[in-house]
Amino acid sequence: MAAVLLSTWAGADEPSYLTSAILPQQAWLTRDPLLCLLYARNEIAMSATVATDPYFQKLFADRIGGASYGKGTAIYKFEKIKRAKRKALVDYPDRKLIDFGIGENDRMAPENVRQKMGQEIHREANRGYADNGIVEFKQAAARYMKRRFGVDLDADTEVNHCIGSKTALAMLPACFINPGDITIMTVPGYPVAGTHTKYYGGTVHALPLLAENDFFPDFDSVTDEVWERTKMVVLNYPNSPTGKTATKEFFARVVELAQQHEFIVVQDAAHTVLSFDSEPLSFLAVPGAKEVGVETHSLSKGFDMIGWRIGWVCGNATLVRAFADVKDNSDSGQFAAIQQAAITALDDDSIPDGIRAKYERRMQKLVATLKRCGFQCEMPGGTYFLYTPAPKSAGGQAFANAEEASQHLITQKSIVTVPWDDAGPFLRFSVTYEADGPEGEDALMAEVESRMKDLELTF
Ligand SMILES: Cc1ncc(COP(=O)(O)O)c(C=O)c1O
Repeated sequence: MAAVLLSTWAGADEPSYLTSAILPQQAWLTRDPLLCLLYARNEIAMSATVATDPYFQKLFADRIGGASYGKGTAIYKFEKIKRAKRKALVDYPDRKLIDFGIGENDRMAPENVRQKMGQEIHREANRGYADNGIVEFKQAAARYMKRRFGVDLDADTEVNHCIGSKTALAMLPACFINPGDITIMTVPGYPVAGTHTKYYGGTVHALPLLAENDFFPDFDSVTDEVWERTKMVVLNYPNSPTGKTATKEFFARVVELAQQHEFIVVQDAAHTVLSFDSEPLSFLAVPGAKEVGVETHSLSKGFDMIGWRIGWVCGNATLVRAFADVKDNSDSGQFAAIQQAAITALDDDSIPDGIRAKYERRMQKLVATLKRCGFQCEMPGGTYFLYTPAPKSAGGQAFANAEEASQHLITQKSIVTVPWDDAGPFLRFSVTYEADGPEGEDALMAEVESRMKDLELTF
């Protein structure tokens, strides 16, 4: 069927009746056989499902769409980016794709960590379930928190490992959220704790991070009725994607509010190694923080260990225990060999220091380059993301939002960014692109400048 569709389409300026009846307009307008094939397959698969829904179609829980699960036709942001990338590669096979869209470190874990892993996988002691983690990892995390942030933690009771901080953020709502409860979260942001809040029948109260508020949430906008139902406030500093770093004063205000309104603070510190404008700051370094919350840490970004899936939750002992109880009922712990290798990483300050220096250097180059192209951007406080107002038009073509601007950059110049329209139109550039050392970065920046200047962007 798809082959018939494609042969009908091939070479025609307008879609035939058959093609236009089956393919949505955005598919045939691309004139891309690959995309059309994908759409056609999708449509055909969906019409087949309508006719032959399996008995379990009606069994899906409402939280994932109920009986409509799998039938949606909305195309999500990252899928749109993927499709535009495929189209750019087909349309301009000789033009290098410059990918600022990837939110993952571009290097393998450091060699000493990999070597340690190589030894540890042969140790009999590491073979079994790791449950809530090996004590040596907790101790290494506590040493790291003390050395890097001046935070004192009892390794036994105030630290628990997790299989990446994403899983911790997914599990923490299970500790607190009953139907009707509220989690306050900031947008744009990392949505995992909010998704799970909703899974438990809670609701998310979103506070926008706006440039005019210096990318801090406006807690004064929260009504008494919302505070009364709020069980958790989830923060993320250094913030993804805005790049804002927290201040001691901000964290101190959060502690005060938590005591006043009686909620739990979860501070997501996944990007904390990548602090540029100030020394990395832990929420737990603020007086009183350990009485009201926990912080989630990760070896993903700051240690080039994204795929290793290792992090920890630390802070208030009772809250850490509640997390460990939920975790114990969800997974059986990260492979002990990975925990042992992570200890090597945590004890070696040259790793996070080197990674921070590299991404800071890349960020400085990107900011300088984009400024020369008209972008109104400044060095972010931290993270490997630059969050900057999207252009309003290119060569006279106006953009209704950041998504249109991002699509234009990909399809016209093979430059990939991630659009954010949750709190104004912004583009996110990640400096985790592939480049061979500082010279490779310079060459890439020169190429970006030349392509961007061609576009005649306005802001
Ligand atoms: C803000 C933020 N928090 C948490 C995570 C999860 O990190 P991990 O599960 O790799 O520790 C990410 C990953 O992209 C993130 O960007």
